[in-house]
Amino acid sequence: MNVRDLADAAIEIPIVTSFTKIGYHARRRLDDWTPLTDYDFGGRVVVLTGATSGLGRCAAQLFTEQGATLVVVGRSADRNQGVVDEIVASSGNTAVSQIACDTGEYDQVRHLADQVLTDHDRLDVLIHNAGALTAERHDSSDGTEQTIASQVVGPFLLTTLLLDRLAETEGSRVITMSSGGMYTAGLTVDQLQMPADDYKGTEQYARAKRAQVTLNEMWAERSGHRGVSFQAMHPGWADTPGVEAALPGFRKVMGPLLRDADQGADTLVWLAGDAAPLDHNGGFWLDRRLRSIHKLPTTKKTDTPERRERLWSWVTERAGL
Ligand SMILES: NC(=O)c1ccc[n+]([C@@H]2O[C@H](COP(=O)([O-])OP(=O)(O)OC[C@H]3O[C@@H](n4cnc5c(N)ncnc54)[C@H](OP(=O)(O)O)[C@@H]3O)[C@@H](O)[C@H]2O)c1
Repeated sequence: MNVRDLADAAIEIPIVTSFTKIGYHARRRLDDWTPLTDYDFGGRVVVLTGATSGLGRCAAQLFTEQGATLVVVGRSADRNQGVVDEIVASSGNTAVSQIACDTGEYDQVRHLADQVLTDHDRLDVLIHNAGALTAERHDSSDGTEQTIASQVVGPFLLTTLLLDRLAETEGSRVITMSSGGMYTAGLTVDQLQMPADDYKGTEQYARAKRAQVTLNEMWAERSGHRGVSFQAMHPGWADTPGVEAALPGFRKVMGPLLRDADQGADTLVWLAGDAAPLDHNGGFWLDRRLRSIHKLPTTKKTDTPERRERLWSWVTERAGL
């Protein structure tokens, strides 16, 4: 372990330094980060879910300022269009379009995929960033708990439908925005969806985010040979409208220690633009460094090959594939 690795490990162990802006600033200096403005996305097509708010909105701005052809995805066509108009006005990049899609509604996901395939003959970066933490159970129209539907099954379906186009595009990447919250959850298939009468939003969210990072590794194992790079990450704790809505008490306590949304989105844009992640298919990242997907022996114990297989089968079936 070199001095930089030792320093990074010292920041990583206490979550409060790692996940807050302390970790961001320390690692930026420690590893002498390339500025995001050095990455050229000219001619590259980026499909970004959850581009209307928070981390996704910041990433959308950075991608377009660096020349990307961007597809903004969110649930409301009006909200999406408002973001497109803002971006075009501020970046001068007119290669920005939008498609309305609730990622937990599989017919809408199929429509999104069809539209992307019609409009773009290449796909460089597909980003599954859309997400929310809700206090009560809601179901998507097929009866799947909506955190799982929108952050696990819908993204799985979208990746599947766009995989051939990704494979045709050299250097393509699929990036999933998970959460450090998943460190608290084991891998479960039988209890993936919490029942309404015993629903805990933070726990449901953690289970979904655990499933995301597991599937990211499985995608890399199963489809990495096709030239597509699969990466997952967590952004630390960033002050976004999503955090304000879901965790107001946490936001108040953490106050100025929270990252701003640009800082939370940094690794996302880096994963899309830098060559280094391509050597680590299936990687999980925070602040431009690979991280373990387990911090606790109790969650590691749950992560068995048999459960992974069952997760893949369950999601495949739920997605109607
Ligand atoms: N902020 C943090 O500290 C933090 C920490 C860990 C992980 N994350 C993850 O980072 C991602 C972005 O979060 P954020 O903090 O930026 O939240 P945010 O400000 O609430 O933004 C969430 C975005 O997701 C979209 N979205 C939500 N549900 C959707 C659905 N069913 N279908 C399509 N789009 C949907 C929203 O778009 P519309 O409302 O326009 O549909 C919005 O653009 C999420 O996956 C979140 O879990 C954030």
